[in-house]
Amino acid sequence: MLLAPLSGVTDLHMRRIAQRLGASAVVSEMVAAAELARGDAESQVRAEGEGVSPHVVQLAGCAENPMAEAARIAVDNGADAIDINMGCPAKTVTGGVAGSALMRDLDHAARLLAAVREAVAVPVTVKMRLGWDHASLNAPELARRAEALGLNGVTVHGRTRQQFYKGRADWSAIRAVVEATGLPVIANGDVTSLEDARACLAASGAAGVMVGRAAVGRPWLVGEIAAGLAGRTLAPLSAEARVAAATEHYEGLIALYGQAMGVRHARKHLAAYADAAGPGALNPADRRRLVTTSDPADALGLLRRAFLDPAFLDPASAATTIGEAA
Ligand SMILES: Cc1cc2nc3c(=O)[nH]c(=O)nc-3n(C[C@H](O)[C@H](O)[C@H](O)COP(=O)(O)O)c2cc1C
Repeated sequence: MLLAPLSGVTDLHMRRIAQRLGASAVVSEMVAAAELARGDAESQVRAEGEGVSPHVVQLAGCAENPMAEAARIAVDNGADAIDINMGCPAKTVTGGVAGSALMRDLDHAARLLAAVREAVAVPVTVKMRLGWDHASLNAPELARRAEALGLNGVTVHGRTRQQFYKGRADWSAIRAVVEATGLPVIANGDVTSLEDARACLAASGAAGVMVGRAAVGRPWLVGEIAAGLAGRTLAPLSAEARVAAATEHYEGLIALYGQAMGVRHARKHLAAYADAAGPGALNPADRRRLVTTSDPADALGLLRRAFLDPAFLDPASAATTIGEAA
Protein backbone atom coordinates (compact mmCIF):
# COMPACT_ATOMS: atom_id res chain seq x y z
CA MET A 1 0.00 0.00 0.00
CA LEU A 2 1.66 3.17 -1.19
CA LEU A 3 0.98 6.86 -0.79
CA ALA A 4 0.80 8.48 -4.23
CA PRO A 5 2.85 11.47 -5.27
CA LEU A 6 0.63 14.57 -5.16
CA SER A 7 2.26 17.77 -6.30
CA GLY A 8 1.95 20.52 -3.70
CA VAL A 9 0.52 18.02 -1.20
CA THR A 10 2.72 15.04 -0.30
CA ASP A 11 5.36 17.09 1.42
CA LEU A 12 8.02 15.53 3.62
CA HIS A 13 5.86 15.59 6.74
CA MET A 14 2.80 14.04 5.14
CA ARG A 15 5.01 11.26 3.79
CA ARG A 16 6.68 10.70 7.14
CA ILE A 17 3.36 10.47 8.97
CA ALA A 18 1.77 8.19 6.36
CA GLN A 19 4.74 5.88 6.52
CA ARG A 20 4.93 5.79 10.29
CA LEU A 21 1.24 4.90 10.33
CA GLY A 22 1.74 1.92 8.06
CA ALA A 23 2.14 2.88 4.39
CA SER A 24 4.60 0.44 2.78
CA ALA A 25 6.15 3.23 0.74
CA VAL A 26 5.56 6.88 -0.03
CA VAL A 27 6.62 8.85 -3.10
CA SER A 28 7.73 12.48 -3.18
CA GLU A 29 5.70 14.98 -5.15
CA MET A 30 7.14 15.33 -8.63
CA VAL A 31 10.36 17.26 -8.86
CA ALA A 32 11.22 18.99 -12.14
CA ALA A 33 14.48 17.33 -13.14
CA ALA A 34 15.92 20.39 -14.85
CA GLU A 35 15.30 22.52 -11.76
CA LEU A 36 16.82 20.01 -9.37
CA ALA A 37 19.79 19.64 -11.72
CA ARG A 38 20.44 23.38 -11.61
CA GLY A 39 20.26 23.48 -7.81
CA ASP A 40 16.85 25.11 -7.37
CA ALA A 41 16.16 25.38 -3.62
CA GLU A 42 12.43 24.64 -3.78
CA SER A 43 13.07 21.47 -5.77
CA GLN A 44 15.53 20.37 -3.11
CA VAL A 45 12.81 20.77 -0.47
CA ARG A 46 10.39 18.72 -2.57
CA ALA A 47 13.00 15.98 -2.91
CA GLU A 48 13.77 15.98 0.82
CA GLY A 49 13.30 12.61 2.49
CA GLU A 50 14.85 12.69 5.93
CA GLY A 51 13.10 10.19 8.16
CA VAL A 52 11.38 8.45 5.24
CA SER A 53 12.44 4.93 4.30
CA PRO A 54 12.45 3.91 1.54
CA HIS A 55 12.82 7.45 0.26
CA VAL A 56 11.43 7.57 -3.28
CA VAL A 57 11.92 10.72 -5.35
CA GLN A 58 9.73 11.25 -8.37
CA LEU A 59 11.29 13.11 -11.28
CA ALA A 60 9.51 14.78 -14.19
CA GLY A 61 11.29 15.94 -17.28
CA CYS A 62 11.64 15.69 -21.00
CA ALA A 63 15.38 15.58 -21.66
CA GLU A 64 17.85 12.82 -20.91
CA ASN A 65 20.73 14.81 -19.39
CA PRO A 66 18.78 16.71 -16.73
CA MET A 67 16.84 13.55 -15.86
CA ALA A 68 20.06 11.58 -15.37
CA GLU A 69 21.72 14.41 -13.47
CA ALA A 70 18.67 14.95 -11.22
CA ALA A 71 18.54 11.23 -10.47
CA ARG A 72 22.20 11.28 -9.44
CA ILE A 73 21.63 14.33 -7.21
CA ALA A 74 18.58 12.72 -5.58
CA VAL A 75 20.52 9.54 -4.85
CA ASP A 76 23.51 11.50 -3.53
CA ASN A 77 21.04 13.20 -1.18
CA GLY A 78 19.70 9.90 0.12
CA ALA A 79 17.02 8.69 -2.31
CA ASP A 80 16.57 4.91 -2.14
CA ALA A 81 14.66 4.78 -5.44
CA ILE A 82 13.71 7.03 -8.34
CA ASP A 83 10.24 7.12 -9.87
CA ILE A 84 9.72 8.70 -13.28
CA ASN A 85 6.54 10.64 -13.98
CA MET A 86 4.84 9.62 -17.23
CA GLY A 87 1.33 10.23 -15.98
CA CYS A 88 0.93 13.92 -15.22
CA PRO A 89 -1.75 15.39 -17.50
CA ALA A 90 -1.07 19.06 -16.71
CA LYS A 91 -0.54 21.26 -19.74
CA THR A 92 2.59 22.89 -18.33
CA VAL A 93 4.18 19.47 -18.02
CA THR A 94 2.79 17.92 -21.19
CA GLY A 95 3.58 21.12 -23.13
CA GLY A 96 7.22 20.36 -22.42
CA VAL A 97 6.74 16.75 -23.58
CA ALA A 98 7.01 15.38 -20.08
CA GLY A 99 4.51 13.58 -17.85
CA SER A 100 1.81 11.72 -19.78
CA ALA A 101 2.79 13.36 -23.09
CA LEU A 102 5.67 10.89 -23.11
CA MET A 103 3.11 8.15 -23.70
CA ARG A 104 2.61 9.62 -27.19
CA ASP A 105 6.22 8.90 -28.06
CA LEU A 106 7.41 5.65 -26.51
CA ASP A 107 10.85 5.89 -28.15
CA HIS A 108 11.43 9.21 -26.42
CA ALA A 109 10.00 7.78 -23.19
CA ALA A 110 12.34 4.80 -23.43
CA ARG A 111 15.38 7.06 -23.92
CA LEU A 112 14.52 8.87 -20.68
CA LEU A 113 14.03 5.60 -18.81
CA ALA A 114 17.37 4.33 -20.11
CA ALA A 115 19.16 7.55 -19.15
CA VAL A 116 17.93 7.36 -15.56
CA ARG A 117 18.55 3.60 -15.36
CA GLU A 118 22.16 4.11 -16.42
CA ALA A 119 22.68 7.09 -14.10
CA VAL A 120 21.92 5.39 -10.78
CA ALA A 121 22.26 1.99 -9.11
CA VAL A 122 19.09 2.22 -6.99
CA PRO A 123 15.70 0.84 -8.15
CA VAL A 124 13.99 2.91 -10.85
CA THR A 125 10.24 2.79 -11.44
CA VAL A 126 7.82 4.59 -13.75
CA LYS A 127 4.31 5.87 -13.10
CA MET A 128 2.02 6.07 -16.11
CA ARG A 129 -1.58 6.26 -17.24
CA LEU A 130 -3.39 3.68 -19.39
CA GLY A 131 -2.35 5.69 -22.45
CA TRP A 132 -2.87 9.09 -24.01
CA ASP A 133 -6.46 8.31 -24.97
CA HIS A 134 -8.65 5.25 -25.47
CA ALA A 135 -7.38 4.85 -29.02
CA SER A 136 -3.85 4.36 -27.73
CA LEU A 137 -3.84 2.24 -24.58
CA ASN A 138 -0.11 1.64 -24.70
CA ALA A 139 0.68 1.22 -21.00
CA PRO A 140 1.42 -2.51 -21.55
CA GLU A 141 3.97 -1.63 -24.24
CA LEU A 142 5.60 1.04 -22.07
CA ALA A 143 5.78 -1.43 -19.18
CA ARG A 144 7.41 -4.04 -21.46
CA ARG A 145 9.99 -1.48 -22.55
CA ALA A 146 10.61 -0.48 -18.92
CA GLU A 147 11.25 -4.12 -18.05
CA ALA A 148 13.61 -4.61 -21.01
CA LEU A 149 15.56 -1.52 -19.89
CA GLY A 150 16.06 -2.94 -16.40
CA LEU A 151 13.52 -0.89 -14.45
CA ASN A 152 12.11 -2.37 -11.27
CA GLY A 153 8.40 -1.62 -11.22
CA VAL A 154 5.52 0.34 -12.70
CA THR A 155 2.50 2.14 -11.33
CA VAL A 156 -0.57 2.58 -13.51
CA HIS A 157 -3.30 5.14 -12.89
CA GLY A 158 -6.36 3.55 -14.49
CA ARG A 159 -7.31 6.53 -16.65
CA THR A 160 -6.06 7.93 -19.93
CA ARG A 161 -4.48 11.34 -20.11
CA GLN A 162 -7.48 12.68 -22.00
CA GLN A 163 -9.73 11.70 -19.11
CA PHE A 164 -7.70 13.89 -16.73
CA TYR A 165 -9.58 12.98 -13.52
CA LYS A 166 -13.02 12.42 -15.06
CA GLY A 167 -14.99 9.19 -14.99
CA ARG A 168 -13.90 6.23 -12.90
CA ALA A 169 -10.45 4.69 -12.86
CA ASP A 170 -10.63 1.41 -14.80
CA TRP A 171 -8.91 -1.12 -12.54
CA SER A 172 -9.58 -4.03 -14.89
CA ALA A 173 -7.74 -2.24 -17.73
CA ILE A 174 -4.60 -2.34 -15.55
CA ARG A 175 -4.66 -6.15 -15.87
CA ALA A 176 -3.31 -5.85 -19.44
CA VAL A 177 -0.18 -4.25 -17.96
CA VAL A 178 0.14 -6.97 -15.30
CA GLU A 179 -0.07 -9.58 -18.08
CA ALA A 180 2.45 -7.76 -20.28
CA THR A 181 5.30 -7.58 -17.80
CA GLY A 182 7.03 -9.54 -15.08
CA LEU A 183 7.61 -6.32 -13.15
CA PRO A 184 5.56 -5.63 -10.05
CA VAL A 185 2.62 -3.43 -11.04
CA ILE A 186 1.00 -1.02 -8.61
CA ALA A 187 -2.60 -0.08 -9.42
CA ASN A 188 -3.82 3.43 -8.76
CA GLY A 189 -6.95 5.55 -9.06
CA ASP A 190 -10.06 6.14 -6.95
CA VAL A 191 -9.15 3.78 -4.10
CA THR A 192 -10.66 5.26 -0.94
CA SER A 193 -11.22 2.26 1.38
CA LEU A 194 -10.22 -1.31 2.19
CA GLU A 195 -13.13 -2.56 0.06
CA ASP A 196 -11.90 -0.47 -2.89
CA ALA A 197 -8.36 -1.78 -2.42
CA ARG A 198 -9.58 -5.39 -2.42
CA ALA A 199 -11.71 -4.77 -5.52
CA CYS A 200 -8.86 -2.98 -7.27
CA LEU A 201 -6.43 -5.84 -6.58
CA ALA A 202 -8.98 -8.42 -7.72
CA ALA A 203 -9.81 -6.57 -10.94
CA SER A 204 -6.24 -5.66 -11.87
CA GLY A 205 -4.18 -8.57 -10.52
CA ALA A 206 -1.70 -5.90 -9.38
CA ALA A 207 0.92 -6.44 -6.69
CA GLY A 208 -0.08 -3.36 -4.73
CA VAL A 209 -2.26 -0.30 -4.58
CA MET A 210 -1.39 3.38 -4.44
CA VAL A 211 -3.73 5.89 -2.80
CA GLY A 212 -3.62 9.60 -3.47
CA ARG A 213 -6.50 12.00 -2.95
CA ALA A 214 -8.32 9.90 -0.35
CA ALA A 215 -5.31 10.19 1.96
CA VAL A 216 -5.30 13.99 1.99
CA GLY A 217 -6.38 14.95 5.51
CA ARG A 218 -6.17 11.23 6.38
CA PRO A 219 -2.51 10.19 6.09
CA TRP A 220 -3.36 7.23 8.33
CA LEU A 221 -5.67 5.79 5.66
CA VAL A 222 -2.94 4.02 3.68
CA GLY A 223 -1.72 2.16 6.77
CA GLU A 224 -5.27 1.29 7.79
CA ILE A 225 -5.91 -0.27 4.39
CA ALA A 226 -2.54 -2.07 4.53
CA ALA A 227 -3.47 -3.59 7.87
CA GLY A 228 -6.84 -4.70 6.54
CA LEU A 229 -5.27 -6.32 3.48
CA ALA A 230 -2.81 -8.15 5.72
CA GLY A 231 -5.77 -9.51 7.68
CA ARG A 232 -4.95 -7.58 10.81
CA THR A 233 -7.82 -5.93 12.56
CA LEU A 234 -6.60 -2.56 13.50
CA ALA A 235 -8.42 -0.42 16.02
CA PRO A 236 -9.17 2.85 14.23
CA LEU A 237 -6.72 5.58 15.13
CA SER A 238 -8.04 7.51 18.12
CA ALA A 239 -9.14 11.11 17.72
CA GLU A 240 -6.19 12.13 19.93
CA ALA A 241 -3.78 10.29 17.63
CA ARG A 242 -5.37 11.92 14.57
CA VAL A 243 -5.09 15.39 15.98
CA ALA A 244 -1.49 14.61 17.00
CA ALA A 245 -0.71 13.61 13.39
CA ALA A 246 -2.38 16.73 12.01
CA THR A 247 -0.52 18.91 14.52
CA GLU A 248 2.81 17.27 13.68
CA HIS A 249 2.10 17.91 10.00
CA TYR A 250 1.21 21.56 10.56
CA GLU A 251 4.18 22.27 12.80
CA GLY A 252 6.47 20.38 10.43
CA LEU A 253 5.42 22.57 7.49
CA ILE A 254 6.19 25.69 9.48
CA ALA A 255 9.60 24.28 10.42
CA LEU A 256 10.25 23.28 6.79
CA TYR A 257 9.14 26.47 5.04
CA GLY A 258 9.20 29.15 7.78
CA GLN A 259 6.01 30.55 9.30
CA ALA A 260 4.66 32.70 6.46
CA MET A 261 5.08 30.14 3.69
CA GLY A 262 4.45 27.17 6.00
CA VAL A 263 1.05 28.54 6.99
CA ARG A 264 0.17 29.01 3.31
CA HIS A 265 1.30 25.48 2.41
CA ALA A 266 -0.68 24.08 5.34
CA ARG A 267 -4.04 25.57 4.34
CA LYS A 268 -5.12 22.80 2.00
CA HIS A 269 -4.13 20.23 4.61
CA LEU A 270 -6.05 22.02 7.37
CA ALA A 271 -9.17 22.09 5.22
CA ALA A 272 -8.74 18.38 4.49
CA TYR A 273 -8.13 17.51 8.14
CA ALA A 274 -11.26 19.44 9.15
CA ASP A 275 -13.27 17.58 6.52
CA ALA A 276 -11.80 14.25 7.65
CA ALA A 277 -12.81 15.04 11.22
CA GLY A 278 -16.40 14.71 10.08
CA PRO A 279 -19.14 16.78 8.53
CA GLY A 280 -19.97 19.72 10.76
CA ALA A 281 -16.90 19.20 12.97
CA LEU A 282 -16.42 22.94 12.67
CA ASN A 283 -19.12 25.47 11.88
CA PRO A 284 -18.60 27.30 8.55
CA ALA A 285 -17.16 30.42 10.21
CA ASP A 286 -14.61 28.43 12.20
CA ARG A 287 -13.71 26.34 9.17
CA ARG A 288 -13.06 29.54 7.22
CA ARG A 289 -10.97 30.86 10.10
CA LEU A 290 -9.00 27.60 10.24
CA VAL A 291 -7.91 27.94 6.61
CA THR A 292 -7.31 31.68 6.64
CA THR A 293 -5.69 32.41 10.00
CA SER A 294 -2.00 33.13 9.97
CA ASP A 295 -1.74 32.48 13.70
CA PRO A 296 -0.50 28.92 14.26
CA ALA A 297 -1.88 28.75 17.82
CA ASP A 298 -5.33 29.71 16.54
CA ALA A 299 -5.14 27.08 13.76
CA LEU A 300 -4.02 24.35 16.15
CA GLY A 301 -6.78 25.19 18.62
CA LEU A 302 -9.39 24.96 15.87
CA LEU A 303 -7.90 21.69 14.66
CA ARG A 304 -8.23 20.22 18.14
CA ARG A 305 -11.83 21.37 18.25
CA ALA A 306 -12.48 19.77 14.88
CA PHE A 307 -11.27 16.36 16.02
CA LEU A 308 -12.14 16.41 19.70
CA ASP A 309 -15.27 17.30 21.54
CA PRO A 310 -14.23 20.47 23.36
CA ALA A 311 -16.68 19.79 26.16
CA PHE A 312 -14.54 16.86 27.26
CA LEU A 313 -11.15 18.46 26.78
CA ASP A 314 -11.25 22.14 27.43
CA PRO A 315 -12.17 22.74 31.10
CA ALA A 316 -13.42 26.28 30.41
CA SER A 317 -15.68 25.16 27.60
CA ALA A 318 -16.77 22.11 29.59
CA ALA A 319 -17.76 24.37 32.48
CA THR A 320 -19.80 26.55 30.14
CA THR A 321 -21.53 23.54 28.67
CA ILE A 322 -22.26 22.03 32.04
CA GLY A 323 -23.35 25.43 33.38
CA GLU A 324 -25.72 25.85 30.45
CA ALA A 325 -27.11 22.40 31.00
CA ALA A 326 -27.64 23.18 34.65
C1 LIG B 1 -3.30 17.58 -6.67
C2 LIG B 1 -2.69 16.40 -7.39
C3 LIG B 1 -1.33 16.39 -7.61
C4 LIG B 1 -0.74 15.29 -8.27
N1 LIG B 1 0.61 15.28 -8.44
C5 LIG B 1 1.20 14.18 -8.99
C6 LIG B 1 2.61 14.09 -9.09
O1 LIG B 1 3.35 14.98 -8.65
N2 LIG B 1 3.12 12.98 -9.67
C7 LIG B 1 2.33 11.97 -10.15
O2 LIG B 1 2.84 10.98 -10.66
N3 LIG B 1 1.01 12.02 -10.06
C8 LIG B 1 0.42 13.10 -9.47
N4 LIG B 1 -0.93 13.12 -9.32
C9 LIG B 1 -1.71 11.92 -9.68
C10 LIG B 1 -1.84 11.00 -8.45
O3 LIG B 1 -0.60 10.49 -8.04
C11 LIG B 1 -2.78 9.80 -8.75
O4 LIG B 1 -2.26 9.11 -9.84
C12 LIG B 1 -4.19 10.24 -9.06
O5 LIG B 1 -4.63 11.26 -8.18
C13 LIG B 1 -5.17 9.06 -8.98
O6 LIG B 1 -5.11 8.45 -7.71
P1 LIG B 1 -6.20 8.78 -6.54
O7 LIG B 1 -7.56 8.59 -7.14
O8 LIG B 1 -5.88 7.81 -5.46
O9 LIG B 1 -5.98 10.20 -6.15
C14 LIG B 1 -1.54 14.21 -8.72
C15 LIG B 1 -2.92 14.25 -8.50
C16 LIG B 1 -3.51 15.32 -7.84
C17 LIG B 1 -4.98 15.32 -7.60
